[in-house]
Amino acid sequence: MTILIKNGTVVSPTGRHDADVLVDGQKIAALLQPGSDAAASAESGAEKVIDAAGKYVVPGGIDAHTHMELPFGGTFASDTFEIGTRAAAWGGTTTIIDFAVQRDGENVRESLDAWFAKAEGECAIDYGFHMILGGVDEAALKEMDNLVGEGISSFKLFMAYPGVFYSDDGQILRAMQKASDNGGLICMHAENGIAIDVLAEQAAARGQTDPVYHGITRPPALEGEATNRAIQLALVAGAPVYFVHLSASEALAAVAAARNDGHNVFAETCPQYLYLNLEDHLGLPGFAGAGYVCSPPLRTREHTHHTDLWRGLRTNDLAVVSTDHCPFCMKDQKELGLDDFRAIPNGIGGVEHRMDLIYQGVVMGELSLERWVETCSTTPARMFGLYPQKGVIAPGSDADIVLYDPNGSTTLSVDTHHMSMDYSAYEGVEIDGRVDTVLSKGKVLIADETYHGVKGDGAYLRRGLSSYLL
Ligand code: URP
Ligand code: ZN
Ligand code: ZN
Repeated sequence: MTILIKNGTVVSPTGRHDADVLVDGQKIAALLQPGSDAAASAESGAEKVIDAAGKYVVPGGIDAHTHMELPFGGTFASDTFEIGTRAAAWGGTTTIIDFAVQRDGENVRESLDAWFAKAEGECAIDYGFHMILGGVDEAALKEMDNLVGEGISSFKLFMAYPGVFYSDDGQILRAMQKASDNGGLICMHAENGIAIDVLAEQAAARGQTDPVYHGITRPPALEGEATNRAIQLALVAGAPVYFVHLSASEALAAVAAARNDGHNVFAETCPQYLYLNLEDHLGLPGFAGAGYVCSPPLRTREHTHHTDLWRGLRTNDLAVVSTDHCPFCMKDQKELGLDDFRAIPNGIGGVEHRMDLIYQGVVMGELSLERWVETCSTTPARMFGLYPQKGVIAPGSDADIVLYDPNGSTTLSVDTHHMSMDYSAYEGVEIDGRVDTVLSKGKVLIADETYHGVKGDGAYLRRGLSSYLL
């Protein structure tokens, strides 16, 4: 099918300009000067014309950090690939990179195959995988080479969660050495899990079992320490490192210092660390704070008011915004930790709201429109080997296109979201702006407040190496 998107303002990391976008099948065919003979001829030949007057035309969002169906804390993240990717599409995200999981003692290949089986034929939008290595042993290290060759070019390691996904410094160093050899990218969950477990045990022994103690026992210094340690290990290994879900100013300072020294150190943050905090959300009375238990935890009001994270997004010390989408319902899931915060499954769902929430940074004057596109689409594509297939509106790229209406508005709520969650972490938040229309590979998925896709529209993406590695 040919589609002409006319009268819109096309936004890229380098600027914005008025252009008509011609889509042919799954690809972008041309950007045409509005009012030109070429645009008029494209319009008369197009099977469908979409009027984007007054709207931004941006590359579909790429959420590089999701956990559909993640087994965690005795339960599973509540979004299936079908539901979670559909919710993503509603929010203007047209690609996710999800984390396949290998646990200690498990075979990497079998674990990955299980992830392929979960996603195959289910997804609304295109998807790739990172590989979580929960047990870095000789076999896992060897498998890393094969995975890079097969399009799974990034690996998540955990300095947190001892006994679950945790890697010690030796395992981390070995995996980094391997990445240094094969061009892979290590994605690091940087929190000192050993020290955190001591603090958590001591709090529980004092009877401090409410959700807020999840945050109090994971202080920012322990994210800063782990971030710094991982950077030193990466330097020793000669490997790049990418910090996932960075939340603490101490961690950001370590990343910024390493970058200033010219090292291949990268980081992402997530909307929850920009908008939610320990006192007002994690510290809600009763058990309500459980809905805000995630790791790293929400930081204190004072910490988040420093706005270091917004600054980091402007300076590129934070290159990417992802969601760390890991939804659990309050009922039966978060409730597993009713008596002890340590048993609350960690995670917040937000795959649907990332584009809207970060667009508020534009509204508030924290980010430029171009930087919104860059952090939410173009850089994730480059960082994780999907560019220029994804992340840009240019001839030859996939026609993953969002029409965003800056004059629209959206209210976030459990009553209207499309994620499989019985609460919203952003209940009642009013968004200036609205996702109007979403195309994925030339197919209109969202228009007129209706979902027009079917499960299986999305396909697996075999990723290349990161464009950021020299
Ligand atoms: O709380 C979180 N972040 N849950 C998902 C697992 C992880 O560490 O990313
Ligand atoms: Zn993590
Ligand atoms: Zn995560």
